[in-house]
Amino acid sequence: MEHLREHWGSRFGFMLAAAGSAIGLGSLWKFPYVAGDHGGGAFVLVYLLATLFICVPLFICELVMGRATQRGAVEAFSILSRQSQNWKGMGWLALTSTLVVYSYYAVVSGWTLNYVILSLSNFTAGKSPEEIRAVFDLLLKAGGMNLFWQFGFLLLTAAVVWGGVRKGIEHWAKILTPALLAILIALFFYAITMPGFHEALRFLLIPDFSKVTPSGILSAVGLSFFTASLGFGIILTYGSYLRPDENLPSMTVAILGSTLGIALIAALTIFPIVFSFGFSPSEGPGLVFKVLPVLFSQLPAPLLISTLFFLLLVFTALTSTVSLLENMTANCIEQFQWSRKKSIVLSTLAAFMLGVPSALAGSGQLFPSWQPIYNADFFATISTLWDRWFLPLSGLLISIFVGYVMDRQLRDKEFLGSSKASYLLPGWLFLIRYVVPIVLILLILEGTNLVSFDALIHN
Ligand code: TRP
Repeated sequence: MEHLREHWGSRFGFMLAAAGSAIGLGSLWKFPYVAGDHGGGAFVLVYLLATLFICVPLFICELVMGRATQRGAVEAFSILSRQSQNWKGMGWLALTSTLVVYSYYAVVSGWTLNYVILSLSNFTAGKSPEEIRAVFDLLLKAGGMNLFWQFGFLLLTAAVVWGGVRKGIEHWAKILTPALLAILIALFFYAITMPGFHEALRFLLIPDFSKVTPSGILSAVGLSFFTASLGFGIILTYGSYLRPDENLPSMTVAILGSTLGIALIAALTIFPIVFSFGFSPSEGPGLVFKVLPVLFSQLPAPLLISTLFFLLLVFTALTSTVSLLENMTANCIEQFQWSRKKSIVLSTLAAFMLGVPSALAGSGQLFPSWQPIYNADFFATISTLWDRWFLPLSGLLISIFVGYVMDRQLRDKEFLGSSKASYLLPGWLFLIRYVVPIVLILLILEGTNLVSFDALIHN
């Protein structure tokens, strides 16, 4: 069947959309607190190496697969493996995983929307720091509100994706990604003036190697992976809208380089505030939602700063949820021959329904025994399951597929594109055939708790 596939209007538009997918809650919400938990500089260094040697090669793999087939993950695996049902199953795994990640990611994204409205209503005025922090706990327990904001965010995402690749995704990426950059830079300049800035610089940029633990290394790898949006065919789908003459390696380096830069700037914006007020850098997931509003309330113009900051989070989350929904939509169109609109509506409904237990996790309204049985609430259970298992597993299978299974000539031709840089090819092949699989297998083993590298080293 010959079909006319929509393409990106420009290379820059694609890069903004891909960077928008990568830059998300992973960089702005998770990166600062996980780096804080693992001692700062050493973690940042490992994260940087992981981005360079694991994420860059895998990102190119997904682009190669998408562009070669001009299809989403399910069809791409099927075509490139010459109709192997097992590899097609890998495509379905990627698609299902996208649905799961979308369902819980939308809950956290919903919180960001809620905090914009809170900030605009100046919610910190007249409250003590304890009361401000307690707002987040109240929100977690308010099941109905979580559902409301989650649904609101899903609708917002659907509205962007509705217009298609060029008029929807690319158009909005061109507005939202620069806007988030502008807000972040404005807040960064503000952070530079704070007394804690030098301490933050030291904390984040000077590695203390006594803080490097194997499990810290593995969580840096895992996070860099999540941030790059790898494993679930999202980059593959975005790559399928690329034209044949684009140079994939150089675009990848530019996209992931800027993502890394943004994560660092975000951390260098958040930590000076934390240090200036004597908070602990290892505050955990509440860092952004609990600590920052307390600090904003003590700064001049809290309404403005707080609104800008949470708007920044909304924009970053939105360009990421857009990529998740587009991945589901593209695959539904190809697998079930649904129209684009029908695919969007049904994918959104599926994500909403699957997200209900995540949204209600904090309130305990659904599955009240989940927490005592699983030792974690529903949200934490599935997000850990996917971060620790399915992401690395999918990445492993993609590297094996492109490294060993896919047609060589086609692969090499896609890698090189219009570029003459054939000397890069052996390096990339070495990474995806040996380095990436080995590191990912270690990551999976650590995730099983069968092997604890910390314990092994200390014995
Ligand atoms: N990369 C995004 C972030 O850091 C989240 C995201 C978007 C994602 N698409 C993904 C994560 C695909 C895993 C897989 O917030």
